[in-house]
Amino acid sequence: QTGAFTYDPGFTSTASCQSALTYIDGDEGVLLHRGYPIGELAENSSFMEVAYLLLNGELPSADELSGFNTTITRHTMVHEQLAAFFRGFRRDAHPMAIMCGVVGALSAFYHDSTDIHDPVQRTIASHRLIAKIPTIAAMAYKYSVGQPFLYPDNSLSYTGNFLRMTFGVPAEPYEVNPAVAKAMDRIFILHADHEQNASTSTVRLAGSSGANPFACIAAGIACLWGPAHGGANEAALNMLREIGTPERIPEFIARAKDKNDPFRLMGFGHRVYKNYDPRATVMQKTVREVFDALKVNDPLFDTALRLEELALSDDYFIEKKLFPNVDFYSGVILSAIGFPTEMFTVLFALARTVGWVAQWNEMITDPDQKIGRPRQLYTGPTQRSYVPVGQR
Ligand code: SDX
Repeated sequence: QTGAFTYDPGFTSTASCQSALTYIDGDEGVLLHRGYPIGELAENSSFMEVAYLLLNGELPSADELSGFNTTITRHTMVHEQLAAFFRGFRRDAHPMAIMCGVVGALSAFYHDSTDIHDPVQRTIASHRLIAKIPTIAAMAYKYSVGQPFLYPDNSLSYTGNFLRMTFGVPAEPYEVNPAVAKAMDRIFILHADHEQNASTSTVRLAGSSGANPFACIAAGIACLWGPAHGGANEAALNMLREIGTPERIPEFIARAKDKNDPFRLMGFGHRVYKNYDPRATVMQKTVREVFDALKVNDPLFDTALRLEELALSDDYFIEKKLFPNVDFYSGVILSAIGFPTEMFTVLFALARTVGWVAQWNEMITDPDQKIGRPRQLYTGPTQRSYVPVGQR
């Protein structure tokens, strides 16, 4: 504590902004979007309904939802030259690297929706981002597996369209599995927004300078990629694969507790939740639904359940209030649906684009909004005079 500043390594105790979108009570494990509990939204609504709620503040009527869906589907195609942009990447490029590049490149197109002071242009930019992110995500996957891009089919739902663009091929018709589409839509709802997490704060900070909205979302994608944040879903499944069987769990729990070992249990712990992440509860239930729908079973799910059981009965995890978070079970589901681990964070970014766009709009329309300017606690030398190189 020196003067006006206190140093909080996690910046969790200093509010960075006011927001009406999402409320989290980390101690109670509560997550509300515009007042609605995440469990009720995941159970009863659709991702497009939640997108409308986050953007507009209220759940849509049937007509409002239909109009919103129509508007979004009208923007699902990307500029043909953007498809050429992919050719610059190596085939083995990580899809998140491609997402950073291609979404950032959107700021070089669509010049009619970059004036952030024009409400019409802001709305068009918002709709374009929500609509095009699944198309770009599917293109990133197709490019990595050497298959042709599929154009959107706007007769399908938002999530069905994404599944077809990802797993469909021109050579044969693609049938969207309703149970998989429902599970995928629910997973998107669980990832839609989460208050002022690192990537959302990045989008807000970039947007506070008046930067191009497409470039701001690209900045959020870059931040989300880190394994401490959205990259944890990919890391969590890789960790479960490394653990393999339940017999090896104690070895990994011991490593996670060892301060000299940088290993942490991926998918466990949270900056805010000191209780069970309510999203993880829904995610664990969804695993069984997807396994039943696809008539598959992945022994890694049993390993995950056993790991949770042993960790939650271990004094270290109890004392430090470390619980499974949204990333712990998501990989088991996404792998069962057919996504490679490299696509997991892309799916997180796809869903979180709705939250980033809603948070960006809230920030940019705040009449008191100023450019973000975090301060620091200076720990360097006090003032001193220059010494010529010959005297050093
Ligand atoms: C997301 O912010 C958001 O809202 C993010 C997110 C969203 O929707 O946007 O919820 C998405 O990013 C979820 C988190 C995904 N990340 C992981 O699962 C990676 C594994 N978890 C961690 O690396 C960690 O838990 C963090 C990064 C999430 C939080 O780390 P902190 O800030 O160190 O957590 P903490 O202060 O609560 O840690 C308390 C103690 C520390 O030990 P001490 O310094 O007290 O000795 O617990 C330890 C930590 O070292 N600890 C862990 C651990 N997480 C924290 N030890 C072992 N395994 C872990 N996973």
